[in-house]
Amino acid sequence: MQISTENKSTQELYKLLTGSVVPRPIAWVTTISSDGVCNAAPFSAYTFVCNNPPMLLINVGRVDRQKDTARNILETGCFVVNVVRQDQMKLMNATSAPYPQGVSETSELGIELLPSTLVAAPRIAKSPVNMECRFERLIDFGTEGSQSLIGEVVMWHIDDDLYDNGKINQEHLHPVGRVGGAVYASLGELIPMDAPYLPGGWTPR
Ligand SMILES: Cc1cc2nc3c(=O)[nH]c(=O)nc-3n(C[C@H](O)[C@H](O)[C@H](O)COP(=O)(O)O)c2cc1C
Repeated sequence: MQISTENKSTQELYKLLTGSVVPRPIAWVTTISSDGVCNAAPFSAYTFVCNNPPMLLINVGRVDRQKDTARNILETGCFVVNVVRQDQMKLMNATSAPYPQGVSETSELGIELLPSTLVAAPRIAKSPVNMECRFERLIDFGTEGSQSLIGEVVMWHIDDDLYDNGKINQEHLHPVGRVGGAVYASLGELIPMDAPYLPGGWTPR
């Protein structure tokens, strides 16, 4: 099977992309509006784009409106990416409902928040890892209002029992990812494999 991207609709391309770029981590993003309303929403078009300074990218689409997450980040210059633990999946999914602007998903769904240390957007108390980000730049793509928002991580919060000597224990983190369609994946088997030797003596692990 070969599929050319020519003359494909946005929906067809979305299905191919989200079935091929798998599994995707989920950024559960908390933001705050300039009126002080807290917003939470998940984004799986998400990755990091720089190690130092550490920078994260979320790609926010547009349906018929600019999503609250993008608007809030552009208004207040910050966001928090909360890692979704498997037992938080239903709550994470519930925050993706199109709540009207000005209605807080976190208040409606009773999601417990904690203040961040360096940014105004609060963080989700029960997430095992929170990354406080200062908005760095916006890159627009395509013809349908796809907004990639990049933020610099300025503070990490990691559950004490997950943190060991600079590393985050993957076995106990229990993150979830998204695959094609409305389908999610847990980590499954963790398979250690040493990286081949790199010239210069530094082996990323
Ligand atoms: C697991 C999951 C991943 C999602 N990933 C994205 C994404 O990468 N980009 C996007 O624009 N919307 C994504 N959505 C949809 C948004 O979460 C949804 O449009 C939400 O209502 C946006 O909220 P907001 O208007 O409060 O920002 C995703 C939804 C789910 C459940």
